[in-house]
Amino acid sequence: MYGWQDSYSVGVQAFDKAHQRLFVYFNDFYSALRDGRSQDQVATILEQTYAYTNQHFESEERWLAQKNDPDLAAHKEQHRKFQEQIEKLIAENKAGKIGLSSSISKVLREWLSGHIMQTDRKYAARYHLKSK
Ligand SMILES: [Fe+2]
Ligand SMILES: [Fe+2]
Repeated sequence: MYGWQDSYSVGVQAFDKAHQRLFVYFNDFYSALRDGRSQDQVATILEQTYAYTNQHFESEERWLAQKNDPDLAAHKEQHRKFQEQIEKLIAENKAGKIGLSSSISKVLREWLSGHIMQTDRKYAARYHLKSK
């Protein structure tokens, strides 16, 4: 299992919680593929993941906009690319072309930890938020 670590903290409790939950979703997705769950079950997990991801990105972007964050446009672009990746997975699953061999959930988790460490933690530093 690949999860959230204290070093990922961005100093905003609500966002840390959201990031933790995203790891849970990605792990669920991974398990579903590994266990060969049905297309419908995988679709449900992916749709939940997508909805939750969108919700988190929206609240993060709203918060950054309130702060007039100078990197907001670039940050949004990263979020958008990630949303596209999930949309692609949803389409692949619908077409019955999804498999563990793509090891895509690993890519998602790595993207998430990379994004948190390199992009989200920048705002933690910028606004002097105390991370764990
Ligand atoms: Fe972000
Ligand atoms: Fe985030």
